[in-house]
Amino acid sequence: MDKLAIIGGRPLYGIVPISGAKNSALKLMAASLLTDEEIVLENAPRLADVDMLMRLLDQHGAQSSFDGATLRLRAKDIKSTEAPYDLVRKMRASFNVLGPLLAREGKAKVSLPGGCAIGARPVDLHLQALAAMGAKIDLDEGYVIAEAPDGLHGADISFPFVSVGATEHAMLAAARAKGETHISNAACEPEIADLAECLNAMGAKVSGAGTSAIHVVGADRLSGVTHRVLPDRIETGAYAMAVGTTGGELTLANTDVELLGAALPILEKAGLSFAATDDGVKVKKERDRCLAVDIETKPYPGIATDLQAMFMAMMTTADGVSRVKETIFENRFMHAPELSRMGAKISVDGQTATVTGVERLKGAPVMATDLRASMSLVIAALGAEGQTMVNRVYHLDRGFERLEEKLAECGALIERVSE
Ligand code: EPZ
Repeated sequence: MDKLAIIGGRPLYGIVPISGAKNSALKLMAASLLTDEEIVLENAPRLADVDMLMRLLDQHGAQSSFDGATLRLRAKDIKSTEAPYDLVRKMRASFNVLGPLLAREGKAKVSLPGGCAIGARPVDLHLQALAAMGAKIDLDEGYVIAEAPDGLHGADISFPFVSVGATEHAMLAAARAKGETHISNAACEPEIADLAECLNAMGAKVSGAGTSAIHVVGADRLSGVTHRVLPDRIETGAYAMAVGTTGGELTLANTDVELLGAALPILEKAGLSFAATDDGVKVKKERDRCLAVDIETKPYPGIATDLQAMFMAMMTTADGVSRVKETIFENRFMHAPELSRMGAKISVDGQTATVTGVERLKGAPVMATDLRASMSLVIAALGAEGQTMVNRVYHLDRGFERLEEKLAECGALIERVSE
């Protein structure tokens, strides 16, 4: 298993090209099952998660290929409506093939994704939405077996709480359902608006995306499309917080800092400045040490749970005491004990972590059990004294494109070590 060896203490200077958003690309890829024409995704990130979904889509009949950052997918015919356990369990976003298969073929058998390191992550809201659209759903031996022999129909779907994945899943299915679907208490993440834009270009009529009330008029047939994947706001935040930890100044290209939502004023309060450039943003650390700031994760435009671990890493060396409250997932502090191994002072009480800033962390061997937590260890390592070995790099390969290359180009001492 590969590791990353990082020698900390060097400020970062240079340009980082921000990739297309993983969490948008995965749902846009699922949309390829809705049409027999070609979907072309520009600015698609080359990530392990994208590869894994390409494999799953391939066994459904969608051929795909990358040319640079352009991903082409075409599901001319659906070969199989079954998504096996082995491919779904490794990545929860695979579950989103259920709605498109059901809408196009009238049936699907998709493995339940199961829990993961950050929490139980059930899919009850996804199934509730599809059932409201007329799907008959059974659970058998870990699989969802769904049928809608006469196709799906529009429905009024009211989610009891905000779910990104369930909102996207409902939109995907509704785009090819008969009639109109109203989704209330919908998620407002930028990736939802990105999916709506793509579905609209394919011939569905989606309005309200980006607000909590989404309206979809389905189409009998959807066409192919060329769509540009929006920039990855979590990668944008990650590099900004790397600067917050190491100092220096980075130009983040191909991105829009407004995508950070409520995280932007928080990062400014902590001591970062942002200045718009032609195609991105310049981020600079304005203080010697960041100021400690409290955060609470919330659905968008609140502070993203996917930024929480990295924010905590930045706070480990901030001036003062910061409280970090996680409200989206029940088990998303696994990075805390690893950061403590590097000398951080963190105490966790339920959903709140209290971080007392220290002058400097010290390098150590560390590992995390999920993608964003692994990135928090990289950020901590970049600011730490001495060498840190970040184990289980495969987590990072799932969601950060060319990570060590991008960081090394800006002056970081980082190297992949294969065993
Ligand atoms: C998406 O996950 C992202 N994944 C996550 O990013 C992100 O952390 C999350 O949204 C929140 O922003 C992708 O887009 C592929 P949810 P998702 O449904 O859709 C509960 C990363 O690192 N829930 O908004 O699965 C759920 O357990 C990943 O890139 C139900 O109870 O998140 C959680 O507590 C990690 N029943 C809450 O809702 C359901 O049917 C919000 O989850 C669905 C969700």
